[in-house]
Amino acid sequence: MKTKKQKSECVSSWEIVFPNDANAHGTMFGGKIMAVMDKMAGIAASRYARHLVVTASTEWVHFKEPVRVGERIETTARVVWVGRSSMVVKIDVMAENFLTGDRRHCTTAHFNMVALDAEERPVRIPQLLVETDEEKRDFEIAEIVKKKALERKQSIDATNR
Ligand SMILES: CC(C)(COP(=O)(O)OP(=O)(O)OC[C@H]1O[C@@H](n2cnc3c(N)ncnc32)[C@H](O)[C@@H]1OP(=O)(O)O)[C@@H](O)C(=O)NCCC(=O)NCCS
Repeated sequence: MKTKKQKSECVSSWEIVFPNDANAHGTMFGGKIMAVMDKMAGIAASRYARHLVVTASTEWVHFKEPVRVGERIETTARVVWVGRSSMVVKIDVMAENFLTGDRRHCTTAHFNMVALDAEERPVRIPQLLVETDEEKRDFEIAEIVKKKALERKQSIDATNR
């Protein structure tokens, strides 16, 4: 069956970083940033696939700069690669000082998401339409991310056997 290719849309959200989101040094917990990214990856992937989705793995998570209490964070997520039932979602977290408008790129990551049917089995989803130079670059990087993720899954599965 040939399915029509489709574009992916960027989704974004804003949060305020409160003291209970942060450690004793006043910087946001990595786990809290992961939770925000996971939520946004799920929204981007489910809107693309129009199916229930789950997170299969998180890849290339890089906490480049700390996020501080009081800052606003903007999280953006977009499906950048699609397989049969799986998607790679690229996520970026920017911190903004609302007084000055200064922005920093704090975290970047790729999440592997899988679309499921009503019986919670992986389901075929539409292929991704890749057009712009940025989309092509993101697609090529995501292909590497996906390959590495499957290699690691194989090693983990072999170790746990
Ligand atoms: C993710 C999950 C559905 C995969 O199930 P599975 O039986 O291994 O499925 P398959 O081997 O048929 O793989 C299905 C797809 O998932 C992809 N996949 C599975 N594990 C993956 C991983 N660790 N990293 C990247 N992709 C993965 C496969 O590449 C395949 O993609 P394709 O259809 O595009 O070729 C299953 O492991 C699961 O339900 N895990 C729990 C998810 C969860 O609870 N997440 C946290 C809360 S959302």
